[in-house]
Amino acid sequence: MNIFPIQRILALARWAPSGDNTQPWRFQVLGKDRLHILGHDTRAHCVYDLDGHASQIAQGALLETLAIAATTEGLRADMARKTSSADSAPVYEITLTAHQDSRPHPLAAMIEKRAVQRRAMSSRPLSEAHKDALSSSVTGYRILWFEGLAQRWNMARFMAANAKNRLTMPEAYPTHRDIIEWNAQFSDDRVPDRAVGVDPLTTRLMRWALQRWERVRFLNTWLGGTWVPRLQLDLIPGLRCAAHFALVAEQEPSTIDDFVMAGRSLQRLWLTATSLGLVLQPEMTPVIFSRYIRQGRNFTSVPAIHDRAARLAKRLERQLGTSMARHTVAMGRLGYGPLPSSRSLRLPLCRLLVASDQTSQLAAEAQNQ
Ligand SMILES: Cc1cc2nc3c(=O)[nH]c(=O)nc-3n(C[C@H](O)[C@H](O)[C@H](O)COP(=O)(O)O)c2cc1C
Repeated sequence: MNIFPIQRILALARWAPSGDNTQPWRFQVLGKDRLHILGHDTRAHCVYDLDGHASQIAQGALLETLAIAATTEGLRADMARKTSSADSAPVYEITLTAHQDSRPHPLAAMIEKRAVQRRAMSSRPLSEAHKDALSSSVTGYRILWFEGLAQRWNMARFMAANAKNRLTMPEAYPTHRDIIEWNAQFSDDRVPDRAVGVDPLTTRLMRWALQRWERVRFLNTWLGGTWVPRLQLDLIPGLRCAAHFALVAEQEPSTIDDFVMAGRSLQRLWLTATSLGLVLQPEMTPVIFSRYIRQGRNFTSVPAIHDRAARLAKRLERQLGTSMARHTVAMGRLGYGPLPSSRSLRLPLCRLLVASDQTSQLAAEAQNQ
């Protein structure tokens, strides 16, 4: 039982999203009103975590969620990154103080509800009022919308082309092999197979194939290549949504603080979408692979994949405009529809807490109350 406000706040804040549900954070409680968030990233083994940026976006989402969660206890969370901490292991210092306005933030009720929807959504267009509400939720960022049949079809094809790289790249294989929890509706620390967005037969085939890279290669070469998963994961959902979007910063993001700030905005957008009855799926692959290309960094041993990524990066610049494409911090799709019945859960709070004298003292006090 979490009897202290700080414990309840953390128990709620841990519902923040992270790429592949990696939860790149641990909590070190330093007192009843003070804690450190210890971040880490997966850049050493995950091709999607270029320079740790995806993890930094997730940490931003966590900070935003924590700030909102604090209001449920009548508290305000002040936070700052310890500038002496390494980008690969950032430390965020959090202080909780009494808040003059003791009402919970209106988005607090969305924190646990929000979940990624990878399946088809309604293609009913977004109302102007909802688009305005979504745009106003991300101060300092602009949202580009891709709506209507032609634009959605264009984006669906673009995402499917990116997925060809994702699915055929040896460098992405270890991530795909490790992040799925099979035969599961829920998962504490990974993505349950039923939330991936493919039908049961394709799930079984994927499970067989992902055990060995040779099998993935065999499937990619025969049995329709990557068409079946791309149809289910990209083309159909890419069409069956209200809109695709790009979240665009005023400047090209480069520092850890830029990515943390982007994560805060993405989470505000996502929680606002949830409050409007919308579901959302981030579509980060094109953003990440384009950044590798722009920086002239080779991220695959397969020249054909690199060349395709370079063509797709150019296509993104044509679709969004060169400067907008460079300033884009996230892409995704959203639409009206139910939340998913299968979803990722989170590690229990006790597993996210790093021991400190204060954590033990709080635990002891909790026992005595
Ligand atoms: C930085 C970031 C990148 C993500 N990229 C993708 C993505 O490209 N495709 C996708 O389906 N989900 C993506 N997600 C969603 C996560 O997989 C999801 O949030 C996580 O598994 C937890 O599940 P939940 O959001 O349902 O709680 C991303 C989330 C974050 C924070």
